[in-house]
Formats: sequence, structure tokens, C-alpha cells
Amino acid sequence: MFLVKQWRALAFGVYGYKNFTKSGFVEHSKKFQPEDMEVRLEGKNCIVTGANSGIGYATAEGLASRGATLYIVCRNKERGEAALSKIQGVTGNKNVFLEVCDISSTSDVKLFASKFSSKDKPVHILVNNAGLLENNRLITSEGFEMNFAVNVLGTYTMTELMLPFLEKAAPDARVINVASGGMYTSPLTDDLQFSADKFDGLEQYARNKRVALTEKWADKYKEKGIGFYSMHPGWAETPGVATSLPRFSKTLSGNLRTIEEGADTIIWLALQPKEKLVSGGFYFDRAEAPKHLPFAATKGSHVAIDSIVDRLHSLSNISA
Ligand SMILES: NC(=O)c1ccc[n+]([C@@H]2O[C@H](COP(=O)([O-])OP(=O)(O)OC[C@H]3O[C@@H](n4cnc5c(N)ncnc54)[C@H](OP(=O)(O)O)[C@@H]3O)[C@@H](O)[C@H]2O)c1
Repeated sequence: MFLVKQWRALAFGVYGYKNFTKSGFVEHSKKFQPEDMEVRLEGKNCIVTGANSGIGYATAEGLASRGATLYIVCRNKERGEAALSKIQGVTGNKNVFLEVCDISSTSDVKLFASKFSSKDKPVHILVNNAGLLENNRLITSEGFEMNFAVNVLGTYTMTELMLPFLEKAAPDARVINVASGGMYTSPLTDDLQFSADKFDGLEQYARNKRVALTEKWADKYKEKGIGFYSMHPGWAETPGVATSLPRFSKTLSGNLRTIEEGADTIIWLALQPKEKLVSGGFYFDRAEAPKHLPFAATKGSHVAIDSIVDRLHSLSNISA
């Protein structure tokens, strides 16, 4: 087991340094087609969670600049208002609205969904971007470990509750889940809240930010006309990375991506015709990417997803 873990870390480091850095983006961008991004979004309703900062902010700005009607979901009113006014100022798009919601709280997510339902609007694009790497074991007011609460349970609850509105936009509806290449370093586990004595936030983040839920949704809802995609932004210089991974941030200083480069594949996934995309696919730098590294023994663990989804359903306490 120790050797497998060492191998995963080594393979991830080598693969990541070559591909996830700024130089990786510059290299991959040689194949990008500029016309892919020349798509307008007037008349489309988009939701971006965690949109006041980092990659979520850049995504929100990118969607608003293309004319989308945009709902930015932020947990802090002041930070949300600052982002809202900046996005409106930069893009000139007044159809941008702030929704205050703490994704770590299933009650808050339910409140958001119930408020949103009164708008009676279709949702064309849901970007589940809100996420964090909390190094300490923090427990939410609902009793959940914090990384799990935001990265998994809150995201699950948000997506499930948005399904009726996504269905209204079908077949032109999609969900984009911001995962992380960090998933390559760990298998999926049913120990959802990291019960081991010695808490490891980085390991918990790797267990959380994966492709398995996206694959499950793509399969479960394949008849509903909703596309589900997961993606990795690469290693981008964001407030989140600076706070959670200060050493990593310092070591790679100068070779981290900008927030716009981190958001590039999210925006690309939002703009492409669905026929061009694979529902359930994992994307990186505008192309499908491997879901597992060679010999990393992470693939088989994904069979646990069915029972995990049952548990998420019960923990989220969503009716139906
Ligand atoms: N940057 C990278 O290199 C990288 C690599 C792989 C994956 N990612 C993923 O990319 C996404 C964006 O991360 P980032 O690097 O841009 O980090 P960031 O700058 O910290 O942005 C994260 C955003 O999520 C929000 N958020 C966190 N917890 C929330 C909650 N409980 N409810 C609502 N919003 C919440 C944050 O709000 P506050 O400002 O209020 O905290 C912030 O707006 C995350 O899902 C992250 O896991 C990033």
C-alpha cells in the first residue's frame, strides 16, 4: 500500500508539473480553436457557485461577457456584492444577480433552491465551482466534515435540487463540476468524513474532488437531456491555493496559471455544442483527459459510487 501511494504521488508530481502548470497551458493552448469561444449566451440562464473569487470569478466574468443571465452563488454577502459590481462594471451586463448561499449547509442550499423555484426559470448551465481544501478537521453546524460538506454533499444537494430547472432547459442543459487533478493521488472511499485519527485535509480533498459523481449523474439522467461534465482547471494562482497550499504556491510561483487560464476549460465546456462533448467525461485544457493515472490502482474504487450516492441522498435529506 505504501509503495502504491508513493507511486501515485510521484506519477502525479511528474504528470502535473508537465501539464497542470502555466507552461502546460501555453503548450496545450497551441491546439485551441479561437472560434470555440466565440459563442454568445443571450437568453441562457447560468449559475456559478463560489463566484466571488479565483476560478469561479473568472468563469462568471467570462459567461457574463458573452451575454448570459447569470446567478452568482456566494456565501458572503459583502464579497458577493463586490464581485457582482465588478462583473457588471467590466462586462456591462446588468443581468447578473447575487444569491447568498453557504454550500456547506444543506439547509442553505435548499433555501436557495426554493427561492430559485419561484423564478420559474430554466437553468441552461450550472457550474459547481465552490470548493475548498481545509487542512484542519472542521465540523459544520450540521455535523459534517467541512471539505466533504462543500466539495461533495453541498454540491450533490445543489445539483439534485436544480434538476427540475435544468430539465426545463433540456436538451440545452449542462452541469459542469470543477474537480481536481488531485484525485489522481487517491482512490474513492466510502469513509466520507475521514474518520481516521490523524486528519489529512489534502488526502480528503483528493477523495472529494473526483469524477465519480459526474459519471453517475451522466448515466442516471441520460434520458433527461442534461450533459454532465467534470474538469480540472490545472494549477492556478488563486486565493484558495495561497491559503490552503502556501508551500506549493511559493514553490510554483511564476509557473501557476492565471484565474482566466484556470477557468478556460469551464467556459469552453459551457459554450461547445453538446454533440461535441461526452457526458460523464473528464476534461482538461479543452480535451478529454484520463480519469486515472497508469498503475495508480484508483479505477476499481469507483464501484463504490452507488452506495455512496445512496448515503449522500440520505445525508442531504432531500425528499423524492
Ligand atoms: N486553483 C487551483 O489550482 C485548482 C486546482 C484544482 C481544482 N480547483 C478547484 O477550483 C475551484 C475554485 O477554486 P479556487 O482555486 O478558485 O479557490 P478560491 O479562490 O478559494 O475560490 C473558491 C470559491 O468557492 C467559494 N466557497 C468556498 N466555500 C464555500 C461555501 N461553503 N459556500 C459557497 N461558496 C464557497 C469561495 O468563497 P469565499 O471567498 O467566501 O471563501 C470562493 O468564492 C474549487 O472547486 C477548487 O477545488 C482549483
